[in-house]
Amino acid sequence: MISTRLHPDKQTAAQAIAGEIADLIEIRSKSGKTTVLGLATGSTPLPLYAELIRLHRAEKLSFRSVITFNLDEYAGLGPSHPQSYRFFMEENLFRHLDIPAGNIHIPDGLSKDAAKNCADYEAAIRAVGGIDLQILGIGRTGHIGFNEPPSAADTRTRWVHLDEVTRRDNSVFFGDLAQVPQGALTMGVATILEARRVELIAFGEAKADIVHRAMKEAPSAACPATWLQQHPRCTFHLDAAAAKAL
Ligand code: PGA
Repeated sequence: MISTRLHPDKQTAAQAIAGEIADLIEIRSKSGKTTVLGLATGSTPLPLYAELIRLHRAEKLSFRSVITFNLDEYAGLGPSHPQSYRFFMEENLFRHLDIPAGNIHIPDGLSKDAAKNCADYEAAIRAVGGIDLQILGIGRTGHIGFNEPPSAADTRTRWVHLDEVTRRDNSVFFGDLAQVPQGALTMGVATILEARRVELIAFGEAKADIVHRAMKEAPSAACPATWLQQHPRCTFHLDAAAAKAL
């Protein structure tokens, strides 16, 4: 089931979600438990990451007990490439926190054996007991992670072809469409659905149509975000513009 939460602006949404993450980390670490977070890239989660960094600095929120798994990585881009998601996460979150380097997981875009890398990724998630809270954005194609249409509900971490709409949307970061990789490694829909909580964030009018489809269309591979309707605890955090078509 998808519930919606309307926020006046990005900042307020970021504070609300960061507060939920902080509560989860604090409650679990008090009883000696780790917290497993699923993380997203793109412009949407940036205010959330800025708020988590503020909580770490100003409120002494520690990430020592946190384990992270990112949703996806571009095929062919290594950690030193400024558009790789590994680079993005280091710059915008990890290097500002006290999270142990060994607790960070991102699919390896340079892997020579993508199938093995993806199977190992699934195994690593299982080995730590699954994802407690997954952050998601949504692409205009209906992708979650890089699960482009068509992506079935039983898909697992794998190599995928990027949709041309996604490549064009993301070309603003590369400066040139030709530089945007054709493929990516992404957690599957099933992997995402197994997270115990899902917090999807969407802002702005450009997301209004896909947010409407994700919530109202019958779940199908044609719009992978519709599978979230089958999740027991999924919240869409929206501003008024993204909620316009609901
Ligand atoms: P965006 O990307 O945050 O840059 O809009 C979202 C997504 O593609 O999941």
